[in-house]
Amino acid sequence: MNKIAIYPGSFDPFTNGHLDIVKKASKLFDKVYILIGVSGKKKRTYSREDMKIAIEKSLENIDNYEVIVFDGLFVDFAKTHNAKYIVRGLRNNVDYNYEESIAEINCMLNPDIEYVYFRANTIISSSMVKELMNYCQDISQFVPEAVNKLLKEKTNG
Ligand code: COA
Repeated sequence: MNKIAIYPGSFDPFTNGHLDIVKKASKLFDKVYILIGVSGKKKRTYSREDMKIAIEKSLENIDNYEVIVFDGLFVDFAKTHNAKYIVRGLRNNVDYNYEESIAEINCMLNPDIEYVYFRANTIISSSMVKELMNYCQDISQFVPEAVNKLLKEKTNG
């Protein structure tokens, strides 16, 4: 049976930290859906469609993934796509507490899913990248090349 996982997130923007998690998940699972979802708490800076293209360009060496722009609950996507695993990256105990606070509800909504946490290889966050962009700093060490290009294009109009 195929092991199908979902890696949901805002990815605003997708960082090297996210890339690391996708690489790890793609080795463990047969297929990984990278779901660009809507987070009620966050107002987006970069369009989800643009980020989808940049993510795809960043993953040219991986073939068992699909990037989806999705408006609903990711547990519902899991049901309709036979995905049993939710992938998230943990940078520290703050991430763990945050993930656990929503994991319980999501597991109630869809008891078939199992959470799989990967250890993050960086503490960089999407907000940090945006903050650095605001101060015209070089962010190339924190995001994949295609994301860097997109962010520069959007900043320079
Ligand atoms: N490396 C680098 N950064 C990481 C990271 C890692 N391994 N793991 C987490 N982060 C950072 C991100 O950069 C981001 O930083 P920010 O807060 O500055 O933006 C933050 O931690 C988490 O963002 P992200 O991974 O993009 O996900 P999110 O927490 O914004 O996404 C979801 C929240 C998954 C709920 C949402 O996007 C989603 O899928 N919504 C669909 C609706 C739904 O199902 N909601 C759940 C209802 S309970």
